[in-house]
Amino acid sequence: PRLPVTVPMWAHVLTDGRLGASDTAVRSQVAMLNAAYGGELGGADTGIRFRLDGITRTVNAAWFRDPVTFERSIKRARKGGAETLNLYVAQLGELVLGYSTYPYLYRSDPRLDGVVIDWRSLPGGSLRNFDRGFTGVHEIGHWFGLLHTFEHGCAAPGDGVDDTAPEGQPTQGCPAGKDTCVGDGPDPLHNFMDYSDDRCMSEFTPGQALRMQEMWAAYRAPEAD
Ligand code: ARG
Ligand code: ZN
Ligand code: CA
Repeated sequence: PRLPVTVPMWAHVLTDGRLGASDTAVRSQVAMLNAAYGGELGGADTGIRFRLDGITRTVNAAWFRDPVTFERSIKRARKGGAETLNLYVAQLGELVLGYSTYPYLYRSDPRLDGVVIDWRSLPGGSLRNFDRGFTGVHEIGHWFGLLHTFEHGCAAPGDGVDDTAPEGQPTQGCPAGKDTCVGDGPDPLHNFMDYSDDRCMSEFTPGQALRMQEMWAAYRAPEAD
């Protein structure tokens, strides 16, 4: 049982006037975050919950199609401080479904803090294997300081979490089982911080929950929290 943390959140929807996330899809994404971080799909209850404070919408075809190039521009919509999760929903590409900044980078450039995800990865979206909203769950794990389960391969310190088995390579698709670091237990391919397809993902571990709570306390929690 971890400390209850409620993360204020703003979603910033980019659109070209035709394509882009609906408010309904954004709300389903937030519901999926709360289910995943609450342990309702399996794994640990991280103690972390999300409260959507608002949605902004910006019509700009260039920003929508290439948020990486227009990063500083799209992030002008940012709200709040280190504790506020700003989720930008635009179009990325099949190779990069999303990306995030890390909590310890907030102080070096607060204006860039936040998570960018592809609108088609939201629950019910059109990316076939990435259509349950777990791209958002994964990227927000990075926002809380989690690393990939395959970080450092089979070598210590791995992902810096002691209850995720080390993993030599990222998982692709959804294999029944896989063991890339012999003697260390099976690969954690159901973990949200692996690269498996959404249908394969269901959990954070208690160790990951602890790391997220520690990162929150160190880098993001408001003073009086
Ligand atoms: N490849 C992306 C990253 O490294 C996200 C992967 C998300 N995986 C998923 N099944 N939705 O951050
Ligand atoms: Zn990642
Ligand atoms: Ca192993």
